[in-house]
Parts: sequence; C-alpha cells; structure tokens
Amino acid sequence: MMDDGGRERADNDSSKKIRDVARAKELAGKRAAEFVEDGMTVGLGTGSTAYWVIQSLASRVSQGLRLRGLPTSEQTAQLARKVGIPLVTFADVHSLDLDIDGADEMDDHLQLIKGGGGALMREKLVAVAARKFIVVVDSSKRVSVLGKFPLPVEVVPFAWQTTARRVEHCGCRPHLREQDGTPFVTDNGNYVLDCFCGDIADPMGLHQQLKLLPGVVETGLFVNMATEAVVSDGIKVEVLLPQ
Ligand code: 5RP
Repeated sequence: MMDDGGRERADNDSSKKIRDVARAKELAGKRAAEFVEDGMTVGLGTGSTAYWVIQSLASRVSQGLRLRGLPTSEQTAQLARKVGIPLVTFADVHSLDLDIDGADEMDDHLQLIKGGGGALMREKLVAVAARKFIVVVDSSKRVSVLGKFPLPVEVVPFAWQTTARRVEHCGCRPHLREQDGTPFVTDNGNYVLDCFCGDIADPMGLHQQLKLLPGVVETGLFVNMATEAVVSDGIKVEVLLPQ
C-alpha cells in the first residue's frame, strides 16, 4: 500500500510529466513554425501541438509574414481566423509548400498514427497535397512499433456495424468513438472506429487492407508521408529525417 508521502510523490511525478509534455508541445510547435517562409501556402494541422504552430505563425503574420493557411479541420479554421491567419481552400490552390501537423504515434521511419482528434481524413488530404510534410510531436509519441495508440478509422455511418465486423476480420478490435454518449461525428459527417490492432508490423499492408473495405473512408495510418519530424522532450528540440 502506498503511504501519504508516496501518493504525494506519485501525484507530483504525474503533474510534472504533464507539464513536461505541455512544454514539449510548445517548444516543438514553435520550432516547426520556423520552417515557414514568406509567401508560402501552408497546411495547418489539428490538435494541441499544432496549436503552437498556429500561434507562432499568427505572431509572425502580425509582423508582416505573408502566408496562406489551409486548415485540416473546422476547429483549426476557427482558431486560425481568430488569430488572423488568412485562409484558402482547395478551390483556391492545388498544392501546398508545406504542411505541419501533429501525430498520436511516430516510429523511427516517421510512419504515423493520426486521428486522435478525429481530423484524419482532411489531415491526409492536406498532407498529400504538400511538397513537404513536417510532423511535430512531443517525445512521448515516439514508439519502436506502431499500435499502442488505437488506430482511428473513419467510416460512413450507414452500416457502420457491418464495417466494424469487417475491420475485426483484419485482426483489429474496433470501438465506436463516442462523445457525450452519442457517436462522435467528424467534420465530414462520418464516424470513427478506434481500432486496437496490437503491434502494427506492416503499416502499409494494414492500411491497404482496411482501405479496401466497403464503408471505410480513411485510416489514421500515414505511411511514407512525413518528410521531417520536429520532436521535443520539453528541454531540447530535434529535427529528424526518416531512417
Ligand atoms: C488530430 C490529430 C492530431 O495531430 C493528434 O491527435 C495529435 O494531437 P496532439 O498534438 O493534441 O497530441 O491527428 O486528428
């Protein structure tokens, strides 16, 4: 049994860890924003790390940086408008100079699991349209093999139950994402299955298998897409290339 002193130390350790992660996201986000040059069109990621990229860019825009942002979610679009970043859509541009976005897991080859915030489909469409895709993470997201974080798979609501059964046949355990007791709905009007697949030894193989299922719109496996990663542990920041 833990005594009061032990519990207090455990509480202190866990709040320190949370502070470190928050600081790491801020440092990584601010460093990644430095990759943006005047006149660029940039994909704006979604999540608490991308938040710092957007804040840094907003402060540079207020000092004269010319920038056009393409948001990966409605949440990011709202934030970008609030902080004064001019936005474009795919009606205005076909390609982007750069995309900067977070991730839920990243291995040494910069293969990713994304979609913890439910924006995976737009995040992927923006990432593939960009000449460079920089993933920005705190070091807790680094893994040797993907799969501890449940893989988000976006599915159409119609017949989602049978789609979930097909996902099971691919060796994953799907769980319908909920929010306030009802299914979570993406910006595209779809549902998300959070899938427990164990160690994902072949990310591309699993992605292709899932993507072929009727009802699956997109998977959160981002394979061979990131060109660089900006990683921080809350003290230092590293820029990594795929190994
Ligand atoms: C949203 C995402 C995010 O990039 C991912 O969930 C990481 O988020 P955070 O930076 O808040 O940890 O894929 O769909």
